[in-house]
Amino acid sequence: MNLCIVGTGYVGLVSAACFAEMGNDVCCVDVNPTIVENLRQGKVHIYEPGLDELVKRNVAEGRLRFTTKVAEGMENALFVFITVGTPPREDGSCDLSFVYQVARDIGANMKDYKIVVDKSTVPVGTADEVRKLIGEELKKRGELIEFDVVSNPEFLKEGDAINDFFKPDRVVVGTDNVRTGELLKALYAPYARSREKVIVMGVRSAEMTKYAANCMLATKISFINEVANICEKVGADVRDVRMGIGSDHRIGYQFIYPGLGYGGSCFPKDVKALIDTARKIGFEPELLAAVDEVNKRQKHVLSKRIMEYFAPQGGVKGKTLALWGLAFKANTDDVRDASSFELIRDLTDAGMRIVAFDPVAGPNTREHFKGNELLTVVDEQYAVLDKADCLAVVTEWNQFRNPDFSRIKKTLKAPIIFDGRNLYSPQLLADLGLAYFCIGRPAPK
Ligand code: UGA
Repeated sequence: MNLCIVGTGYVGLVSAACFAEMGNDVCCVDVNPTIVENLRQGKVHIYEPGLDELVKRNVAEGRLRFTTKVAEGMENALFVFITVGTPPREDGSCDLSFVYQVARDIGANMKDYKIVVDKSTVPVGTADEVRKLIGEELKKRGELIEFDVVSNPEFLKEGDAINDFFKPDRVVVGTDNVRTGELLKALYAPYARSREKVIVMGVRSAEMTKYAANCMLATKISFINEVANICEKVGADVRDVRMGIGSDHRIGYQFIYPGLGYGGSCFPKDVKALIDTARKIGFEPELLAAVDEVNKRQKHVLSKRIMEYFAPQGGVKGKTLALWGLAFKANTDDVRDASSFELIRDLTDAGMRIVAFDPVAGPNTREHFKGNELLTVVDEQYAVLDKADCLAVVTEWNQFRNPDFSRIKKTLKAPIIFDGRNLYSPQLLADLGLAYFCIGRPAPK
């Protein structure tokens, strides 16, 4: 099938490469000429495991092309996917200006029947607006061309995006047109494998499904973080509690790992956007507001603990923290709404020096904290330990899971680890003579 994908971010580029891999002919559009030029040469501008090879192979085999022009991208396509960003505004609402601009461009360049597929995460009602904008552009040109607008939210996770795309739990298609639904089912058949996995519903229900899914997962995380905080006070171990509750298949083990709150470009933004949608229609979403609030608080748990620890020694001012992990989670260079950033802000505001390492998110962090002289980002994991007073671990990269504890103990001024991801065994660290603070777990007796 012939596809046009407008926007080459995580969702757009991963979808494009994965569609091309199944033999579809895909043309990707991006307004940024440098990104397009690099992609033409197989150079990918985002870090996503496996994406580089997939893009290179499909470009070389002629199934994946890139252009800056919507007209060129749409020329032979039956499906036109909108996969541009919907960044959050200050008030929590979504900025839909990129989506609307693409809708206008599609209307201005449409020559024959198209199925316009909205894959960006957008509030309920956006597809109607997209339909209206395309219609207005066609009217301006005096054209009477048929088109459909479909909602097809994407559920892939950064860091595991290709796997998620090739083996989705489900594909949600929002359309009132049976034939369009069948065409999308055919497009997704090689991925979804069984037809039941493609769930066809109304457009508004599909738009709502995306928010409901992310808000449910965010709720699980805020829930377990709240439980972890209570565990700590009552002397229970949240890891045992997680195993105990997760074994009930109605609850499940996933997304109940406690930590420093959820980050990234999706959960924080989507919870706020659904709160905003609800409030705009006069409904107060009390549970979602609490999920958001708990998350905000959780991002400061580790910095608070570090400050409490150093308070008897005159505070953190003049002390140095070695920091492992900057990305909002492992296997990505994405630092949007990363919990590490809150920790860095809290501690450098209080005068602490931080020397940080991340396997891939160093450059993005340096860029973000340009001018903050108390933060140094280095390129070697163990180099952060030199002259540091303590170590904090914030991202669960594999290479932090089994570190050289004797080297840590020898190099740090005092042998203390603050762990925001519960990566280590409190008993093992106690046996090694390392003080250990984690989330929701008591110190060994
Ligand atoms: C999330 C969803 O998982 C995807 O299904 C969805 O498609 C995507 O948002 C999106 O809307 O585009 P992503 O943001 O890539 O994907 O990352 P997740 O793996 O879901 O993690 C989000 C945050 O929650 C991270 O900060 C992670 O560390 C945190 N988390 C996750 C926890 O604190 N505990 C957990 O048990 C799981």
